[in-house]
Order: sequence, then structure tokens, then C-alpha cells
Amino acid sequence: MDTKLKIRFDYNNMMARSIGKEEGFKDKELISCYPLALKAFEEVQKNRGKGMTAWMELPYNQGEIVEDILLTAQQIRAKFNYFVVLGIGGSALGPMAAGQALTHLRYNELRRSKRKGPKFYVEDNIDPERMKALLDVIDVKKAMFNVITKSGATSETMAQLLIIYDLLKKELGDEAKEHIIATTDREKGNLIKIAKREGFKAYYIPDGVGGRFSELCPVGLLPAAVLGIDIKQMLQGAADMDELCRRQEVDKNPALMAALLSYLCMKKGKNISVMMPYADSLKYIADWYCQLWGESLGKSVDNEVNVGQTPVKALGVTDQHSQIQLYTEGPYDKVVTFITVGKYRARVPIARGFEDIPDVSFLGGYTLNELIQAERVATEYALSKAGRLNNTILLPKVNAYTIGQLMYFFEMQTAYCGAMLNINAYNQPGVEEGKKATYALLGRKGYEDKKRELDARPSKKRKYII
Ligand code: PA5
Repeated sequence: MDTKLKIRFDYNNMMARSIGKEEGFKDKELISCYPLALKAFEEVQKNRGKGMTAWMELPYNQGEIVEDILLTAQQIRAKFNYFVVLGIGGSALGPMAAGQALTHLRYNELRRSKRKGPKFYVEDNIDPERMKALLDVIDVKKAMFNVITKSGATSETMAQLLIIYDLLKKELGDEAKEHIIATTDREKGNLIKIAKREGFKAYYIPDGVGGRFSELCPVGLLPAAVLGIDIKQMLQGAADMDELCRRQEVDKNPALMAALLSYLCMKKGKNISVMMPYADSLKYIADWYCQLWGESLGKSVDNEVNVGQTPVKALGVTDQHSQIQLYTEGPYDKVVTFITVGKYRARVPIARGFEDIPDVSFLGGYTLNELIQAERVATEYALSKAGRLNNTILLPKVNAYTIGQLMYFFEMQTAYCGAMLNINAYNQPGVEEGKKATYALLGRKGYEDKKRELDARPSKKRKYII
């Protein structure tokens, strides 16, 4: 572990001594729950790599595939002007999060010579206007499309593939297949069948790696490598975080402690988890976290108890001016997690001026770096003063190594918390239900019963539509 670049979990403001006895945890109370945390720890570690926890081994077992990806990425960078991911949910949020975190914030607007790779788009919606807009700005003849779907069946992604492949064939004939890379299951689903039949290059999502846990396999590694991101460093960061998350002492294991605190918060009715990075580069990390936390933990247990915490994304400082009022004075139902950056990749001085107006001129001579840090500390103080639970993840800087650590930390926190809640963190019956209903509505074979079920739903009454 590079200690200078080690990310840290600071939970001072979850404790009574910082935010008061009413809301904060006392040491004794926390320590009395360590056995529960250790039970979850044992369960997760005993099963590591098995079933749907194969993602835990991703930092270690991809040597060959990483070399292959690096080579492919180099070829894509040399040949294509656009790299477009077609995917949704776990097949899109990771590539978006890593891309935003680890490239220039105006990446697509930079001249080619200033960019490490082609322009980058992640198409995670099927809004027809968005598809049209994409086709207005790219030239498919110069684009590589990475179709990502674990199930190989998701309607949104398959519809996008149908549209794009048709266009490519019209423009390029037989060469169309050279513009598509499929990332999917090795055997299951339709995409692999299509890929084999049409001759698309394919990368595989290993068994036991579900959508939202897939950023560190080819789902995330290929797009990241195309953007020139150091994927070996990302994996190294994940491996080093794994080492910390394997520690058997609760107060030395960041993900286990974070999971325990989340679990205890849920028990106390803190049903909302706000993720608030103070960096534009980490904006989509918050989106990625929201899916991971929401889809993994939002479950019904034996159809009796419903658990989970609603994740909310916020951006510091922007959302200080929209949401913080609610967090400071609204219901006591939230926990705020700040993500802070020690050293930003830019330093911007604030010019001196308007010396005759002291309320403005006091800012001159500082840097935006100092201002954003002061605002974060001030917000943390205001929340704590109001007795609001909050914690902070500190990133010394944003780079491939710290992002690998951060993503693996959240995955482990989710796994541990799932074990404490006694739920399956790896399924998504609620999502599947919507997928099946879509198939039924569009007349897919095999979904006739579902169609009948849908047709029998209560019809909408005009009187309730104004
Ligand atoms: O986390 C998950 O499993 C889901 O969000 C999926 O990623 C999402 O539904 C897309 O599924 P697929 O990758 O099979 O197209």
C-alpha cells in the first residue's frame, strides 16, 4: 500500500463526542456491535470468490485479459475518433464514473492532440432524442461501439445494438463487424450468440460478477484503457484496499466499520444515504454508488421486512445551495458521506480586486482550492453542530490508484452491510420484474402469462387524471 495515497474513512462525526448524544454513537455502543460486524465479516470472507462474489478476486486474476485489453485499446485509439458504450445500469455507470474521474473534465471538447483517446460517450438511455443527438455528432464510420450487457438480453441495449449495427452495415457493409466489441457473459444470453455469428470481438464478464460489481472487469477496464487510464493502477488500488478490508479488527477495517455504521443508522431510521463528493471529477462516482447501494441493499426479507437506505447524490459545493438546508434542519433521517480531495489536479488563484468593497476583496489572494476546502469544512461543521450524522472519505488525490481503492471500498462496504442485513445483495428481483413486463408489453415470445397479468391490472380512472 502506498500510504501517501491511501484513502481514509473518517467517522468522527458519527460519534456522540462530535455531534451530541442524541444522534451520535457512543464508543461503548459501537464496540458492543463488533460481534455482529465480525459475523458478517466471516460470512463474506468465507464465501469470497464463490457464487456472486467472484468480483472480490478481480484485482488478482486478470493478468492476461489486462494485456489483451491494453493492446485492443491501443488499436482503438489509433483507428477511431469516437468510442461509444451502449449499456445501462451496472453496464454503464462504472465506465462513466471512471471516465469522469480520470480524464480531463472537458475531455470531449479537447483537441485530439490533447486527448489520450477518442471522444467518449456512454449511452445509458433510450430516449429517442438522445440517440438522434448522438448520431448528429458522431460519424459511425469512425466510431467503435462497445455493447455491454451481462445478461445479453436487456431490451434497451439490444435495441441500441439493432439500430447501430443496421446503420453500420448500411455505411460499411461487411466491415461493420469491426466496429463492435461485445462485453457479455461467455455462454448465456443473446449477445454472445450474435457476437459469434457476426464475428464481433468479445470480452467476457466472469461468472459471479454482477452488473453493479463489474467495473473492475472488462466492463470498466476496456473503456478506461481506451481513455488512456492506467488500469493496472486501478486494479492495484483495489487489491490494496482489499488487504485493508480483510483485516479482522473492526476498527482497523474501513469497509467493515463503514458497513456497521450504515447498518446501525438504518436500525435507527436513518433511511437516506447522501453521497456528496467535493469534486466534479467524482460526480458520477456518486451515481455509481447510488446504484450499488440502492440495488444491492433495497430488498424485502422473507416478504416481511423491507430494508435498504435510499441513496441520494449531491455535489459539493453546488448542492450546498440546494440541498444542505434540508440536511441541516429537515427530518433526522439521513447520513451524509462527504468525499474530499486532498490535492486537486489544478490550482486556481483568485485575483485581487474591488479593494473598496471588503466583502468581496477578502476572497482575493486565496485559491479556489482553499475556498472549496473552507466551504467543505464549514458545511461539515454546520451539519455536525446541528447534530446530523456525517462521515468523510478522504482521497489524497484523484488518480487511477485512489479510484480503484474507492470503488473496491464501496463494494466491500455493500457486501458487509448486506451480510449484516441478512439479505442477498447480488440479486435484483425488482429490476427483473420491470424487464419482464417490458418484454410482455412488446409481445416477446415466452411472456404471454406476464402479458395476461399486466392486462388484468386495474385500469386507470379518468377522474384521477386532471
Ligand atoms: O446491477 C445490475 O445487475 C443491473 O443494474 C444491470 O447492470 C442492468 O440491469 C443491466 O443489465 P445487463 O448488464 O444484463 O444488460
